[in-house]
Amino acid sequence: MKKFTIVFIMAAFALFLGSCADSNKTDGNAEAADSTEVKKTTLVAYFTASELRTTERVAKRLAEATDADLFEILPALAYTTEDLDWKDEDSRSTIEMKDSTARPEIAEKLENMDQYTTIYVGFPIWWYTAPRIINTFLEQYDLTGKTIIPFATSGGSDMGKSGEDLKKASAPNANWILPGKVLNGNPPVDSIKAWVETLQLNKED
Ligand SMILES: Cc1cc2nc3c(=O)[nH]c(=O)nc-3n(C[C@H](O)[C@H](O)[C@H](O)COP(=O)(O)O)c2cc1C
Repeated sequence: MKKFTIVFIMAAFALFLGSCADSNKTDGNAEAADSTEVKKTTLVAYFTASELRTTERVAKRLAEATDADLFEILPALAYTTEDLDWKDEDSRSTIEMKDSTARPEIAEKLENMDQYTTIYVGFPIWWYTAPRIINTFLEQYDLTGKTIIPFATSGGSDMGKSGEDLKKASAPNANWILPGKVLNGNPPVDSIKAWVETLQLNKED
């Protein structure tokens, strides 16, 4: 009888250990499920400066149209209205745009840039080209082999040489799709999608 009791207790203990092992397995599977969460490979990075935040509005729609992550290129020191006065020779924006080596500091760096294969880079046209902070952004990362598509908003100018300027100065090893596009007039998501389709990006891009 005593022997039977000992065998019974051992069997019950073995069963208990087995159930613990099973529950651990379940936890492991849950972790595996988490790690298979799909990471986006397209990024829309944008800089917007005026109070109207025109470029931001378009960037949000582009991110929706392309199922992309969105990142704001935020200056460490925000631009004031005076800074943006293009009629003032001494304003911050005029001084920066006269100096092709100016690199205004950015507040935050993306830690997961490796994840992205296609990057849309958006900005307001300043003096017919991209604001210098876009150079700062591009120079912070190794963009070799990544596809970059510039887009902009403006008071009427087209992309001009903004894409070529950026490529040459700050990311020559990326695969640029130029000239990119000015997306003025608050275009709806559908018309942005139509433009993206004309780019004929590879599935892997
Ligand atoms: C310093 C400065 C320079 C500008 N230069 C041009 C220009 O050369 N051509 C143009 O069409 N618009 C120019 N603009 C107008 C902006 O491109 C336009 O208002 C843009 O949509 C603003 O975008 P945001 O609201 O995202 O800052 C300039 C604006 C500023 C502040």
